[in-house]
Amino acid sequence: MGLPLDGLILGIESSCDETAAALLEADGTVRASVVRSQIDLHTVFGGVVPEIAGRSHVEHMVPVLEECFERARAQKSDVRAIAVTCQPGLIGSLLVGVSTAKALALALDVPLVPVDHVAAHIYSCFHGVAEPQLPAACLVASGGHSSLFAVESLTRHTKLGETIDDAAGEAFDKVAAIVGLGYPGGPLIDRMAEGGDRKRFRFPRSLLARDSLDFSFSGIKTSVLYHCRGQNLRDRRTLDEQEVRDVCASFQDAVVDVLTTKLARLAERIGARSLAVGGGVAANRRLRERVTELAAEKGLGLHLAPRELTTDNAVMVAGLGRLLFAEGVRAGLDLDAHARALAPAPAP
Ligand code: KG4
Ligand code: ZN
Repeated sequence: MGLPLDGLILGIESSCDETAAALLEADGTVRASVVRSQIDLHTVFGGVVPEIAGRSHVEHMVPVLEECFERARAQKSDVRAIAVTCQPGLIGSLLVGVSTAKALALALDVPLVPVDHVAAHIYSCFHGVAEPQLPAACLVASGGHSSLFAVESLTRHTKLGETIDDAAGEAFDKVAAIVGLGYPGGPLIDRMAEGGDRKRFRFPRSLLARDSLDFSFSGIKTSVLYHCRGQNLRDRRTLDEQEVRDVCASFQDAVVDVLTTKLARLAERIGARSLAVGGGVAANRRLRERVTELAAEKGLGLHLAPRELTTDNAVMVAGLGRLLFAEGVRAGLDLDAHARALAPAPAP
């Protein structure tokens, strides 16, 4: 076991297109959280451009940190540990956060705590929860991941399913591009679906084998593409606004159906006491509604990540870092960034 934290923990997140920093107190209270999104830079390209993301992190990392300390009314000397996302993500982006964290750890002479980005999304479901109901069946659905986990404790989990092609958020982004809504697609589809008829079009629900906990979203996306452009992909008809709304609502319903069906399957398989959902797609209103209904139907507890912690942020990094710190997890100044999660966060 490590020593209890006797000051602030700084969290740094830069795995994709958000530069983020957060300062948490020893008991987990958030003193400040700053997220600088790069969406405006990537919108014109219809997706995140890794090279641009990395450069933008370099530009914004120090101002984001300064703003975080200012908002927290804290000094750098108040920091007792630094938690940083080191995997998985865009390598150039991750390296900016990891290098910054290492430089600060060296300058302030405080320990470095390595954090896995997906584990931080899992943690986000339980942030501030006094008594998590465990084991939990947890879905992490974002732009880069769609995975199912058995959560044994806030720092221990086992992956039992993942996408074999597109991530759920990626499917939202691609379908939004197909129907001409822009980027990022998730929030736009969520909004358009509100006035749409989710039963008008029946897009496929790919459940794979009967006992499978894996996901596949490329079929749903292709089906929307054929619907809009015809089987030969040459149709250039313009969808009127109501049809766009109906396509969005029908597509969203198909994705949410698959996500909740598999989550229910996982909960049953592991004898879960609760359901948990995190990651960018967890901001989706229809998904939140369906998971809430599912938990009530099955008599299970519910841990939905707070909306502000669904998309990338550093509160979840500092929060998980704080628990790992207490367990004695540390990294040296030779900490490396990994685009893919090679291994769970280094053991104490
Ligand atoms: O967790 P996140 O910020 O980044 C990754 O780790 O990937 O997730 C971003 C993803 C994007 O694909 C975005 O379209 C999706 O989350 N997203 C949503 C919603 N808000 C964000 N998807 C569906 N409905 C939403 N309301
Ligand atoms: Zn993420």
